[in-house]
Amino acid sequence: MTDLENAGFSNTDTNASPLRLLATTDFEAFAKTLSDEDREWLKRQNFTCSPGQFAWLQNGEVLVGWDGVDDLNTLGHLPMALPEGLYKIDRSVTDLQLIGWGMGCYQFQRYSKASRNPAALYVDDAEQRQRVVNSVLATFFARDLINTPAQDMAPSHLQAEAEALADQFGASITATVGDALLDMECGAIHAVGRAAEDEPRLLDITWGDPSHPKVTIVGKGVTFDSGGLNMKPSGGMRLMKKDMGGAAIAMGLGYLLMAQQLPIRLRLLVPAAENSVAGNAFRPGDVLHTHKGLTVEIDNTDAEGRLLLCDALSIASEEKPELIVDYATLTGSARSAVGAEIGAMFCNEDTVAEGIAASGVAQDDPVWRMPLHKGYDYMLKSKVADLVNSAATPYAGAVSAALFLQRFVDDTPWVHFDIMAFNTRNRPARPEGGEAMALRSVYEYLEKRYG
Ligand code: BES
Ligand code: MN
Ligand code: ZN
Repeated sequence: MTDLENAGFSNTDTNASPLRLLATTDFEAFAKTLSDEDREWLKRQNFTCSPGQFAWLQNGEVLVGWDGVDDLNTLGHLPMALPEGLYKIDRSVTDLQLIGWGMGCYQFQRYSKASRNPAALYVDDAEQRQRVVNSVLATFFARDLINTPAQDMAPSHLQAEAEALADQFGASITATVGDALLDMECGAIHAVGRAAEDEPRLLDITWGDPSHPKVTIVGKGVTFDSGGLNMKPSGGMRLMKKDMGGAAIAMGLGYLLMAQQLPIRLRLLVPAAENSVAGNAFRPGDVLHTHKGLTVEIDNTDAEGRLLLCDALSIASEEKPELIVDYATLTGSARSAVGAEIGAMFCNEDTVAEGIAASGVAQDDPVWRMPLHKGYDYMLKSKVADLVNSAATPYAGAVSAALFLQRFVDDTPWVHFDIMAFNTRNRPARPEGGEAMALRSVYEYLEKRYG
């Protein structure tokens, strides 16, 4: 399959079925133009042109109800609802609507073949086609990484994926693996991952003209989060193959930025580790030496994501990039606050936060800003070290986690996303399973700023 086919599109319209996108409010007028037979036919199918509904006319045309909004829902349900085959739309549609079509074509087929193929859509404009395919494949890349179980997506597999990504775009990559992390003073990444069979590591990709503005993307790559010695109960552990979702989204965003050749000097930092249990596991009460030189007392080995990130973020901030963006499946607290379908965003610069929030709306990729409330800094006080990894209070867990991270970036402009990285239910364009949340929001923001 070509990239184009994979994303659900075609560049030829031979034998394509025409698809008429019809606003619900325009249906009545349109129905008057139809033959009596067709009107009767639509009635029998209960077709009222409600958003998402579709029906065939006798001449082979498909009517699709639409609410008039430019979003992923416009076309996102169609590839798996329409019969297999090729379609073409009667009017010009936006990139976002096409991205919805493409995202709705996704099927995770690594371990079992799907029972049908998605429908394909003809797109006439070659430039639009390429932009859309790049965006869709960026999301597919992240989804595949997330959906792959921990047995096949251990830190070494994540490294292989990062190497393939770097290779595809001529980027350079280094990997610091196992005890070599200690030579780099990354005591936190090392501690989180050292009990696992597959060694912890830091992946570091650089791409682009060194004279271009520096943007660094960081992603939490916990390939499985058992909780460590503070082990999670069964229910809480069940989905933890997705705890490298931050890394997957960072890599997906990296893919898109490089495919679109945005004029930035991109750096992608992925700390990867499995939070496992063995005799050499890190323990509650241990004190870790981080890259920045700050010491961290472990209150809870299940608050491991911020430990991976703190070393990566301090390395990121050393070269003073114009912006650091991190993604992490960091806290259950963020999920309590905004649910599974909105990304919680923390940012130390208002204009950046406002720009990304606006892009989130435009891209149908919801994010919501949360406070880096200084008054809660006390939650990170330790009696024996510079800070503690998990607050003693049950309140504002996503905020205290973000405040922890902030200690490692200082004043470098920085955005942190605490995301679910997983669709817990099926929606148009968003099948249940891994999801690249907050990817398009950040991409559009960066494109507006640097493109
Ligand atoms: N990976 C989890 C957070 C998570 C859980 C994200 C479920 C999305 C869905 C993270 O490593 C974790 O365990 N966080 C703890 C932190 C606590 C021990 C301070 C949490 O949120 O309970
Ligand atoms: Mn955890
Ligand atoms: Zn975790």
